[in-house]
Amino acid sequence: MSTLAIDRIGLLVTCDPGLGEGPLGVVPDAALIIEDGRVAAIERAGAEADARLDARQRCVIPGFVDSHTHLVFAGDRAEEFAERMAGRPYQAGGILSTVTATREASDDQLRHGAGVRRREQLRAGITHAEIKSGYDLTVSGEARLCRLAGELTDDVTFLGAHVVPAGTDPDEYVELVCGAMLTACAPQARWIDVFCETGAFDADQSRAVLQAGREAGLGLRVHANQLGPGPGVRLAVELGAASADHCTYLEDADIEALSGSQTVATFLPATDFATRQPYPDARRAIDAGVSVALATNTNPGSSYTTSMSFCIALAVRDLGMTLEEALLAATVGGAQALRRSDLGRLTPGARADAVLLDAPSPAHLAYRPGMALVAATLLGGEVVYREAGSG
Ligand code: NIG
Repeated sequence: MSTLAIDRIGLLVTCDPGLGEGPLGVVPDAALIIEDGRVAAIERAGAEADARLDARQRCVIPGFVDSHTHLVFAGDRAEEFAERMAGRPYQAGGILSTVTATREASDDQLRHGAGVRRREQLRAGITHAEIKSGYDLTVSGEARLCRLAGELTDDVTFLGAHVVPAGTDPDEYVELVCGAMLTACAPQARWIDVFCETGAFDADQSRAVLQAGREAGLGLRVHANQLGPGPGVRLAVELGAASADHCTYLEDADIEALSGSQTVATFLPATDFATRQPYPDARRAIDAGVSVALATNTNPGSSYTTSMSFCIALAVRDLGMTLEEALLAATVGGAQALRRSDLGRLTPGARADAVLLDAPSPAHLAYRPGMALVAATLLGGEVVYREAGSG
């Protein structure tokens, strides 16, 4: 088996404190040795290998793990965004306009749109993404979205319980989600999710969806406490969900439940930005021992961005996270929220998903907001994106 060295790395950020200095596990003047798509070793610059990629003293970090996205959809909600910026509040019902557009789109149209956004992710340094269904809300349509998502990731989430379709009785819809829709989607998904929120699904309905998903062999995720305080976070912890996502409104009882639990609190600050919500108090959660992740929540309604750097900048500027905490949350934190031990760190045995930054240190991700700092992205040791003109 031949080896590749990413050589002459100015600063290698492993995101494994056991491997280098400080909380990010930083190794200066390093070479990352890759074999068979996995990290084989971390050596001094100039180490032997069959092939070489010259990092030219750049900083190298693990690829971002985006644990919450809605990549498969059709349509555009720029007008809704403009109205929101003019003062109209974000409401769960906006999802239905994307449902209409998505139902009308062909497989190829959806595949094309999701592919464009997947390429954006790679340019943004996101090497792995979870992708949800949830923009069709019929049995065959949700199965189609899970199938298309599965062309891009092995972390597909069935989100039939995104919102109740117009003109449908909520309890009958929950029965459908827990019955025929789950049967059609479960073979193509790893996770089930529910939007537990006023205007979407209440605690009892959410519990029914999550329990049915678990019985069908799926792991659990919850959209929780996005638009106000509510039962979502505590339900997620009680049922052992891998992640409670949004967590914009955390009360003492939510923090208490999360700390010491196996449930990761996943913050989606680009959503709070684009919906004019307050930012969550990540500092308080971290100080209480809660495991945290950062994700983009790419979707056409509440967060139309694939920029994890933007999320990191917001986390540092507005959520009270240090740069180190934000970077860990966007890498190993995302992996933990997906219960993946093979992603998010550049540690021997992990998948060789790495990002070369046009920056001397990862601090630039927050220090230079809005800048495209990704020079190259490697997925399983293969260069899948290289900035034009970068060597
Ligand atoms: O995570 N909150 C529910 N679902 C998405 C929003 C989807 C939409 O507005 O289209 C979210 O923010």
